[in-house]
Amino acid sequence: MSNKIKIFDTTLRDGEQTPGVSLNIKEKVAIAKQLEILGVDIIEAGFSIASEGDFKAVKAVAETIKNATVASLARALEKDIDAAYESVKKAASPRIHTFIATSDIHMKYKLRMSEDEVLERIKQMINYSKKYVSDVQFSAEDASRSNPIFLYKAYEEAIKAGATTLNIPDTVGYATPEEFGLLVKGIMNNVTGIEKVDVAVHCHNDLGLGVANTLAAMVNGANQLECTINGLGERAGNAALEEIIMTVNTRYDLYPYIHNINSKQLIKSSNLVSKLTGINVQPNKAIVGKNAFAHESGIHQHGVLAEKSTYEIMTPESVGLSQNDMVLGKHSGRHAFSAKLKEMGYTLTKKEIDETFKKFKELADKKKQVLTKDIEALLTDKIYTVEQAYTMDSFQINTGNKLISTATLRLIKDDQVITEAATGDGPIDAAFNAIERCVGFTMSLEEYKITAVTGGKDALGEVNIRVKKDDAYYVGHGVSTDIIEASIKAYINASNRVYQVLSSKE
Ligand code: KIV
Ligand code: ZN
Repeated sequence: MSNKIKIFDTTLRDGEQTPGVSLNIKEKVAIAKQLEILGVDIIEAGFSIASEGDFKAVKAVAETIKNATVASLARALEKDIDAAYESVKKAASPRIHTFIATSDIHMKYKLRMSEDEVLERIKQMINYSKKYVSDVQFSAEDASRSNPIFLYKAYEEAIKAGATTLNIPDTVGYATPEEFGLLVKGIMNNVTGIEKVDVAVHCHNDLGLGVANTLAAMVNGANQLECTINGLGERAGNAALEEIIMTVNTRYDLYPYIHNINSKQLIKSSNLVSKLTGINVQPNKAIVGKNAFAHESGIHQHGVLAEKSTYEIMTPESVGLSQNDMVLGKHSGRHAFSAKLKEMGYTLTKKEIDETFKKFKELADKKKQVLTKDIEALLTDKIYTVEQAYTMDSFQINTGNKLISTATLRLIKDDQVITEAATGDGPIDAAFNAIERCVGFTMSLEEYKITAVTGGKDALGEVNIRVKKDDAYYVGHGVSTDIIEASIKAYINASNRVYQVLSSKE
């Protein structure tokens, strides 16, 4: 048995099914590029039939990515498979991923199909997909709650029809590691032709067992592991990529498996996904949480100072956390700044470097030491890739504990200045109301988060918001040493996202 495992990342498909998450095309491409740098083998870029936006995003990812297979999900229906093919056909390595449920409960209540009808559909739809591409993945949805004897038949049918990867999803996160390991073992031992195909697992995390089930499947023969960055996904999410990889790397004694992931890209991937989806990583999250490498108690600190391995089972550097943060200041030149960007793994155009350097200089004037985190915060404007229809020119706020807060905002759109004033329940509410007057539509603010990027009174404030407009969610992001300015930038950023969608419907 080979010990090479493939990583199938579904952050852009199952991960995007996280409640409240909606990524635009440029953001999906930005995440896909980072997944390519991270070294994933297969990127599931979306569910092409789901919407025009999904279709376009999968197509854009397929046309961009060169070093990973790009897959689109499709139900076992001709129209879904047509859309999946149309979206991935230009990929360097395209895959159609088709699925149908095989559990009694899904077949009876959802599909209203008999076992024989499901087997026939599997045969027909894999044959249909094979007319388009050679690389076809078949998933038996709700496999872990399916009758194993029927499941074996379904997989045999799929192999006969030409599927090249068979996926065993624990769709509702119901399985336990022992049980799931045995299910995979049963499939490996009983399905005729299984040695000809890749065997994948896709574990949801409803009982917090997604990663444990994935590892149990791996030791029983699965060689494609499906996962997402930060464990995003439907309900409680999917198995987290970073946890699977660092378990294999750290416990190589138990899991002697080889993969292509560059673990030093894990933090960067996690940060990017968290910023673009607006879903914060909990501080105590394994591997990528803010506290994952922090030692709080005196005993622990003492131990780590004496010998790191007393309390550290993996190094912060191995996941991409830089211990020696090179500090830049107001005397640092363009050369040192470009070198820092390169070291951080960013490849920017000359124009982007110039713009970011200008922002860096402005920040360095206000803040003595500019750290990696500050530069990352400045760069998020670059990855917040929404068209800037509205930009801020200036703002003025009057506020006080015995005053009604009033904000006057000047925004620019198409070289025109738009000035509006509004009152509100505090300075930020007043500013948001004034922005809504400028852009001409209202949104409801669902979430507002403010964090200091680094320590110190002069730290950059980073504001992340989530707004709702016509049943859809949009994120907004802004940074500044002034938290009111950061909030205004975040609201304008979210307004631009809404504007883009509204104007595309006109
Ligand atoms: O959870 C699941 O079963 C899925 C399939 C479509 C693979 O996401
Ligand atoms: Zn899933």
